[in-house]
Amino acid sequence: MTAQLSKKSEAWSARFSEPVSDLVKRYTASVFFDKRLALFDIEGSLAHAEMLAATGIISAADQAEIVRGMTQIRAEIEAGRFEWLLDLEDVHLNIEKRLTELVGDAGKRLHTGRSRNDQVATDIRLYLRSAIDDVSALLRALQLALLDLAEQHAATIMPGFTHMQVAQPITFGHHMLAYVEMFSRDAERMADCRKRVNRLPLGAAALAGTTFPIDRERVAKTLGFDEVCRNSLDAVSDRDFAIEFCAAAALVMTHVSRMSEELIIWMSPRVGFIDIADRFCTGSSIMPQKKNPDVPELARGKTGRVNGHLIGLLTLMKGQPLAYNKDNQEDKEPLFDTVDTLTDTLRIFADMATGITVKADTMRAAALQGFATATDLADYLVKKGLPFRDAHEAVARAVRTCVDRGCDLTDLTLEELRAFSALIEADIFAVLTLEGSVAARDHIGGTAPKQVRAAIAAARQRLG
Ligand code: ARG
Repeated sequence: MTAQLSKKSEAWSARFSEPVSDLVKRYTASVFFDKRLALFDIEGSLAHAEMLAATGIISAADQAEIVRGMTQIRAEIEAGRFEWLLDLEDVHLNIEKRLTELVGDAGKRLHTGRSRNDQVATDIRLYLRSAIDDVSALLRALQLALLDLAEQHAATIMPGFTHMQVAQPITFGHHMLAYVEMFSRDAERMADCRKRVNRLPLGAAALAGTTFPIDRERVAKTLGFDEVCRNSLDAVSDRDFAIEFCAAAALVMTHVSRMSEELIIWMSPRVGFIDIADRFCTGSSIMPQKKNPDVPELARGKTGRVNGHLIGLLTLMKGQPLAYNKDNQEDKEPLFDTVDTLTDTLRIFADMATGITVKADTMRAAALQGFATATDLADYLVKKGLPFRDAHEAVARAVRTCVDRGCDLTDLTLEELRAFSALIEADIFAVLTLEGSVAARDHIGGTAPKQVRAAIAAARQRLG
């Protein structure tokens, strides 16, 4: 930080008899992190100035000067030449001060009918709206990558698990589609959250509104907001829209984390279902043989960080009386970090999905262990007239025999199988194959390759 400014240069200087200490200055300043809002702050200010001129609150000449100054400031910021000053506390005062330096009195008129309270609320909403649009595009890209993977493996058989025990055969494509569903609901949540983010606080001023004849609808239209916030106290004080975003983000990360956990397990040499491209893994500094799934592990870890931000923001809000309190300045870092963590994670995962190699033989071998088609045998008996509970018991006895002998159900002869139920006939062997098992689950949401391919086509259609 250069150029210590005298107290006189600060926005509220005349009221104070002594300057704050350097520590207090640093403690209360937000410019180091809220300068990220700069371009949104300028966009909001330009819309405000346009309205002030259109309503005759400032002159057209002043508005033109404000546009000229802001154009230069924007260029300075984009070029990294703008000098951010700690003494000017936050992004808003830094920009306003520079504007006044550049255009004089017109710059001083910009803040007419406005407060930093409605200004910052507007900036965050503009920022978050744009972040949500990025997140939505990334969720779409991830879903498309998973759909490609699902399509390649619509008929690749793997064991499906419950309780981490082999349950029934499924296809890898079907498994990937489960994540497509999760991310598609995440995208719905983001779109829904966007509706409540996209409302204009500006015009609320400090808390009670303003005495100037402002036109809020006009500003809303200029900035692309769907509507204006209907109550000024609420507009400047609540950050529920940011909390809602963080909740939706925590759910995205939760889904990413579940997927990560599976990728890590699948890549373990003890399981060996997949390999992940080297560019997402690292080695060990001591064990030369190691290839670690760092990206999924970190994503699983970063989920905790995003969950923490959600709790942080909820806690920030819960004790605040109406209307604005400085506590709200603490909303930015958790929100920015949530957006950064989420967008980086989604970007990497969409790429990583293209770097997953499926080891179909290992998956198949695993599906052949653990009597994955036992339910198919029970269903077969039910279709021959046996009540399900009796069928369940007959198959349980057959499985017990196989466990004792160390063989699979399909290793038993027809005669041996018939000892468990006389209803069993030669057609049972087709039923007990892995292919027969998955193909038989032929309904919407089922694992049959035919259904998986239909679900992929439907998902592609929805994604447009
Ligand atoms: N930097 C402040 C924030 O992030 C801007 C609003 C300050 N308003 C005030 N009355 N001190 O919330």
